[in-house]
Amino acid sequence: MKLAQRITRIKPSATLTINTKAQELRAAGRQIVSLAVGEPDFRTPEHVCDAAKIAMDEGFTRYTPVPGIPELRTAVAGYFKTFYGVDAAMENVVVTNGGKQSLYNLFQVLLDPGDEVIIPAPYWVSYPALVQLADGVSVFVTTEPQNNFLVSVEQLEAVRTPRTRCLIMNTPSNPTGCHYTQAQLDAIAAWAVDKGVFVISDEIYDQLVYAPAKPASLAPWWQRYPENFAVANGLAKSFAMTGWRVGYTLAHADLIKAMTKIQGQSTSNICSIAQKAALAALTGGWECLTPMREAFVRRRDLGLSKIRSWGHVVCPEPAGAFYLFPQVDWYYTPEVPDSTALCGLLLDKAGVALVPGAAFGDDRCIRISYALDDETLSGCLDRIGQVLHSLKK
Ligand SMILES: Cc1ncc(COP(=O)(O)O)c(C=O)c1O
Repeated sequence: MKLAQRITRIKPSATLTINTKAQELRAAGRQIVSLAVGEPDFRTPEHVCDAAKIAMDEGFTRYTPVPGIPELRTAVAGYFKTFYGVDAAMENVVVTNGGKQSLYNLFQVLLDPGDEVIIPAPYWVSYPALVQLADGVSVFVTTEPQNNFLVSVEQLEAVRTPRTRCLIMNTPSNPTGCHYTQAQLDAIAAWAVDKGVFVISDEIYDQLVYAPAKPASLAPWWQRYPENFAVANGLAKSFAMTGWRVGYTLAHADLIKAMTKIQGQSTSNICSIAQKAALAALTGGWECLTPMREAFVRRRDLGLSKIRSWGHVVCPEPAGAFYLFPQVDWYYTPEVPDSTALCGLLLDKAGVALVPGAAFGDDRCIRISYALDDETLSGCLDRIGQVLHSLKK
């Protein structure tokens, strides 16, 4: 069947490939545990689910305004005031079908064909595809585990060209879990303002930052330079609401209008019931996030100590999200020469599904999600260690 070039250029998701193989092995009777998941293993808080049930019972089941119901947009604006001291109005907020649609719409309204987007690598899998779908060009900057996978102003300046339109920042990061301090973000933001580079800040994990690290955001920079910054966020990771599909963007009112135009001609408003649930999440208190955060810290510590006990591995301590991203290329052999082959072997021999680092633009590493119970996580990491040791030179 003939398909448009646009779709043939997009790479299939590496996560899906590994999941398909895992399913085949499960169908053949093998016990496979997935450390490939990108979602919290907790239930959505009770009061959030209750708000959705009430919305249904009250018949709140019709179209809403495209950018979201006013009270939700106002609550999102309030979020930025509460956590980052930023004054925003409802006109600065659009509610989207997950954080992913925020990013999709942003690239659609910001990029002209050939515009370059700087993407620090390792990066979240969808960034290059989202840029490509907007006819943009991804320019990657490799970061190192020794520097906590953080990008520097010097590295950014080295790849800047007259075609550079955007930089995408993601802190805490998927896949590394590494997190910028506010001072590090400030330095990058100052560079971007000086050079006229628009910064999209993907802050979807901002509620999952672990002490002593502190949350950091580009929202205050948006307040100072509204035409230079946009912040994308959502409720998926913080409130264990991946399936509800609630994301949002904070940006200049003109940008919000442009994004709303795209959304109005493609998907319209997000689910009306999910909007009521999101409103309950944002206005119902933050205590419910504490046990989730505590569990993640415990698992991060457990995972990190196991990984470091493997030996020839470099793994910075993540300060947020729920991923570890060890550099394991010391173990590569002629038969297992890269992260994809290693993940295939680990699936087969350890019964653990992982996403290869290549999917995130760093073939030296593998991504381990610790969004599952401590005991299963511990068993998986022991089995991975055994397989790695069998590859020892
Ligand atoms: C870094 C990052 N940004 C954005 C998203 C999109 O989240 P959502 O489920 O809200 O679309 C994800 C989800 O995995 C992510 O890891």
